[in-house]
Amino acid sequence: MTDASLTLTLPDAEATALLARKLAPGLAAGDVLLLEGPIGAGKSHFARALIRARLQAPDAEVPSPTFTLVQTYDDGKAEIWHADLYRLGHPDEGAELGLDQAFTTAICLIEWPERLGDLTPPDALHLRFEPLADDSRRLQITAPESWQRRLAVLSGSGESLAEDAPDSAQTQTAPSQDA
Ligand SMILES: Nc1ncnc2c1ncn2[C@@H]1O[C@H](COP(=O)(O)OP(=O)(O)OP(=O)(O)O)[C@@H](O)[C@H]1O
Ligand SMILES: [Mg+2]
Repeated sequence: MTDASLTLTLPDAEATALLARKLAPGLAAGDVLLLEGPIGAGKSHFARALIRARLQAPDAEVPSPTFTLVQTYDDGKAEIWHADLYRLGHPDEGAELGLDQAFTTAICLIEWPERLGDLTPPDALHLRFEPLADDSRRLQITAPESWQRRLAVLSGSGESLAEDAPDSAQTQTAPSQDA
């Protein structure tokens, strides 16, 4: 299967939040977003903006699930699971948390998805946040075919993001092939 890859530059935290707000309305139960990148990359910031957009509550409290591992929300259309798996010892613990079930019944936002091992859903959307020297972030989105139509809200997205927030993002698209 051919994955598509989209690389964005997110100059500041608001650009990260704007991207999350753009993706939020198109999501549905069964969608899994794997939020990759080092400590402080902006994974929780992205998840918080996305959850607030889904809840239509810009000030909703969205704590980082660093210690609870999972926080759940209900936006009236779908359940949302926000997980931080940094402290997950073994993928089996992910199944014990009910993550494998949630992958089919909820919108799932997963920080430190590397911990999932074999539990990783094959059709998930990958978002890799990379802090750059100037404190901006490079974001690489890798999308299985099932996501590509929905990512149209982002592609050509230089313009569409720039429309809402001038100079806040630049994009390049490139096809990539599954290994
Ligand atoms: N595009 C960006 N440019 C600059 N700063 C950003 C950007 N996106 C997010 N940030 C900032 O990065 C900081 C750290 O973000 P966050 O806590 O979300 O990291 P994290 O990836 O969840 O880390 P952890 O692995 O510890 O959970 C926040 O203060 C946020 O405002
Ligand atoms: Mg975090």
